[in-house]
Amino acid sequence: MRYARVAAIEEAYAKAEISQTLSPRDHMYNTGPDWYFTVGADGMRVVFRALATSAMAEPKRILDLPCGHGRVARHLRAAFPRAEITFADIETDGADFCAAEFGGQALHSQADLTRVDFGGQYDLIWIGSLFTHVDASRAAVWTRHLCRSLAPRGVLIATLHGNWSREVQRSYGAMIGDGEWQRILAGCDATGWGYAPYPDTPDYGVSLCQASAVLAMASRVEGVRILGYNERAWAGNHDVLMLEARDRMEPW
Ligand SMILES: C[S@@+](CC[C@H](N)C(=O)[O-])C[C@H]1O[C@@H](n2cnc3c(N)ncnc32)[C@H](O)[C@@H]1O
Repeated sequence: MRYARVAAIEEAYAKAEISQTLSPRDHMYNTGPDWYFTVGADGMRVVFRALATSAMAEPKRILDLPCGHGRVARHLRAAFPRAEITFADIETDGADFCAAEFGGQALHSQADLTRVDFGGQYDLIWIGSLFTHVDASRAAVWTRHLCRSLAPRGVLIATLHGNWSREVQRSYGAMIGDGEWQRILAGCDATGWGYAPYPDTPDYGVSLCQASAVLAMASRVEGVRILGYNERAWAGNHDVLMLEARDRMEPW
C-alpha cells in the first residue's frame, strides 16, 4: 500500500471511537484488564506496518483468527469501518460476540484448522496468539492452509512466542508448568520450535520459537513472500511473522 494511504487510515483510526463493550466471558480481559486495550491497539500498529510494506491496494476483506472476545477485533473495525470482517474462533461465543458487537460474520472454527473453510480471498489475515499455542507441524500446515485463503497480494500476520517469552515465563508469570516448560526449552533448543500441551489438551499448549525456524517454515510455503519477521513487535511481547500472497518465484 502507499505509505500516504496507510498514514491516512492510521490517522482516522487514531480519532475513531473504540468500542468499550466487553463480554463477561472475555478471558483476555479477565486475566489482563490493565493492558487489554493497549495490547489490542498495538495490534493495529503491527497491521499498519505490514500494510505499508505490502503491495496490496487496500484491505476490503479481513479475517481475525482467533478473535477471542475482540481484544483486537474492536480496533480492526475502527480502523477499517467499511471492510467485511470475519471473526473466527473455536470458542463460538467469542466469534458470535465479535460479529454482533463489531459488525461482521462469525465463523466457528475447529480444533483442526485444515477442516475449516475460511471462504478465501482475504486481504488481511490477523492471527493473534494462535501459533503461540501449537506445535511446529500444526503451525506449518495451518499457515499453508490460511495462505490459500489470501487474495492476491493479501497479507497474513501471525504472532509467535520468540526469545522474549523465555523472560516472560521466568520473570513475569508462568504460561505453563515448570516440567512442561523444560520440555519446551529443550525442544526449542533442539529444533527451533518447542512445544508442550496443557495438561488437559494434547493439541493445545505453549510453543516457543526461534526466528530462524519460523522463517525456514515460512520459506517452504508456496506462492508467498516473507514480508518480515519482527522480534517483540506486538506490544513488546510476541514476535510477528508477515507473509504476502505474491509468489516469490514470480518471473520478472
Ligand atoms: C490467547 S487467545 C487469543 C485471542 C485473541 N486473538 C486475542 O488476542 O485476544 C487464543 C484463542 O485461540 C482460540 N483457539 C484455539 N484453538 C483454535 C482453533 N483451532 N481455531 C480457532 N481458534 C482457536 C481460543 O479459543 C482463544 O480464543
